[in-house]
Amino acid sequence: MKKVAIVGWRGMVGSVLMERMTQEGDLNKIDASLFSTSLKGEKNVWHKECSDTILDSNSIEQLKEMDIVLTCQGGDYTNDVLPKLRATGWNGFWIDAASAMRMDPNATIVLDPVNRDHIDRAINDGKKDFVGGNCTVSLMLLALGGLFKADLIEWVSSHTYQAASGAGAQNMIELLEQSHFLTQKYMESRDPAKAALDYEKLVTEASKSSDLPKDNFGQPLALSLLPWIDIKMENGQSREEWKAQVEANKILNTQTIIPIDGTCVRVASLRCHSQAFTMKLKKDVDMKTLEELVGSHNDWVELVPNEKEETVEKLTPKNVTGTLKIPVGRMRKMNMGGQFLNAFTVGDQLLWGAAEPLRRTLNIVLNS
Ligand code: HSE
Repeated sequence: MKKVAIVGWRGMVGSVLMERMTQEGDLNKIDASLFSTSLKGEKNVWHKECSDTILDSNSIEQLKEMDIVLTCQGGDYTNDVLPKLRATGWNGFWIDAASAMRMDPNATIVLDPVNRDHIDRAINDGKKDFVGGNCTVSLMLLALGGLFKADLIEWVSSHTYQAASGAGAQNMIELLEQSHFLTQKYMESRDPAKAALDYEKLVTEASKSSDLPKDNFGQPLALSLLPWIDIKMENGQSREEWKAQVEANKILNTQTIIPIDGTCVRVASLRCHSQAFTMKLKKDVDMKTLEELVGSHNDWVELVPNEKEETVEKLTPKNVTGTLKIPVGRMRKMNMGGQFLNAFTVGDQLLWGAAEPLRRTLNIVLNS
């Protein structure tokens, strides 16, 4: 059995990964060791399928004994440890959730329902670095995979509605704290004589209070939104917006860049990212064909008819959270003409957006 180091297993993405690996029996196929800096040397009481002692995630000596390192520890860890590990001559597989090495020419961004051939080719070519894509990119490509595969997309404008989980576990908790803080003000002042705008004034005032918890987001997200994610790029995009085009084209292995751009927005959703797409198609194709292409691309896409009742039931974070479903709906031609297509999708940021592509890549590597 291959020796696999699991690093960052206690974090949010790591916990979801361990949960999925346990559900799918992956841990029984490998000789897994949990690695940690804070728990090194302690007895493993967390995951019975893994070895008895927690090893040291900063120990190059211990890591280089492994065939595969599976890490959700973050980009700083990757930047620090991977070069040192490779410098020893270690030639194992490094499977990573962090963005640090995504654009490295030697690294393959993994999303096997979309680029399995590319992953297989990389393994055959002796490549050893594999990294999960940005969550919105992976969720977009799973949703629109059929249209990309048919080479129908000239460009996409993707506007995101991103969950707090994408910013981290503390941000999720902060969103809940903010929601509580604001709704509590309403609950305390409930009075049949008051009108909606009286409550709105009260809550707006409370959202400006220095007592509102906002150390992580810096601003209130609850009952609001924040149209900026990550740092600013030179061209005025946010880094999250920049990732869409560069990562999607790398995953698709396009010969000519497909332009992808839009505004990324943080919304008060807990763990599902939603996206609205405006697409220009290379030609005018009928809706039935487009729907068939989208709906048949992979096992997780679920086409939602462009009807109100089904849309508000199925095309929502509530319906998707904690599942691998990729509903795609609001598909219709736009006023701009027959080549312009509208669509909307929702996906779980921690599953297909982070943990699942890594778990599946581990299996591909094990079977290679
Ligand atoms: N950058 C994403 C977000 C996290 O902030 O939502 C998933 O890659």
